[in-house]
Amino acid sequence: MSDKTHLMVALDVSEWADALTLVKQLGEQVEWYKVGKQLFTHYGPKVLEELKAMGRKVFLDMKFHDIPNTVAQAVRSAALIGADIINVHASGGPAMLAAAAEAGRETGKTVIAVTVLTSMDTAQLQAIGIQSTPAEQVLRLAKLSQEAGLPGVVCSALELPMLREAFGPEFLTLVPGIRPAGAAAGDQKRIMTPAQAALAGASYIIVGRPIVAAHDPAIAARAILAELDSVK
Ligand code: C5P
Repeated sequence: MSDKTHLMVALDVSEWADALTLVKQLGEQVEWYKVGKQLFTHYGPKVLEELKAMGRKVFLDMKFHDIPNTVAQAVRSAALIGADIINVHASGGPAMLAAAAEAGRETGKTVIAVTVLTSMDTAQLQAIGIQSTPAEQVLRLAKLSQEAGLPGVVCSALELPMLREAFGPEFLTLVPGIRPAGAAAGDQKRIMTPAQAALAGASYIIVGRPIVAAHDPAIAARAILAELDSVK
């Protein structure tokens, strides 16, 4: 990992026209975008084609979870349409993770894992037969991901120090739930400021509403980038 923390903007809008306006407003200062199920399900590969044509990089947040062969083929398809980072669910198990890692190596793309969704608490885990706490389960699944050859995970700010300690500085961490000081938390509970996340070793911070819903997204992004720069 370079010691720089990169900014990634979550394109959480329903209309492609709105996404395009946002990308243009943010200009050259933002290189990375996260494209999720909302935009991709409606507009498909066109979203990636257009972002790539504008010279941007894309994390396709589809959280693949299926049998190993299907996931590996989905990773290859995501690579073909231009995704730079692709994710899968670590709970798909070691064989699925190994197949995803192999497809990542083959295509030269970065494949990372989602461990435990932040909407899952101890009670939700118990309901699906998992007796561990969310933190224990995150650590277990992150270890499985690393052993399968994946370079990193999506994690919450709360888990970042634990994962850095367990897996060292090279492990990739993509961290949502970022709020500049004074910004509305919204539904995010485990939040960190951009500077705190950078100091805790985040490889990428994923920022949605603080930029997407800002009165002036370009100014909001510039302030976050300045905050990241101030600690590195
Ligand atoms: O608007 P906000 O900055 O909260 O957006 C964060 C982005 O990261 C959203 O796209 C959200 O779905 C995603 N995300 C998250 N928490 C996770 C995983 C992904 O907030 N654990």
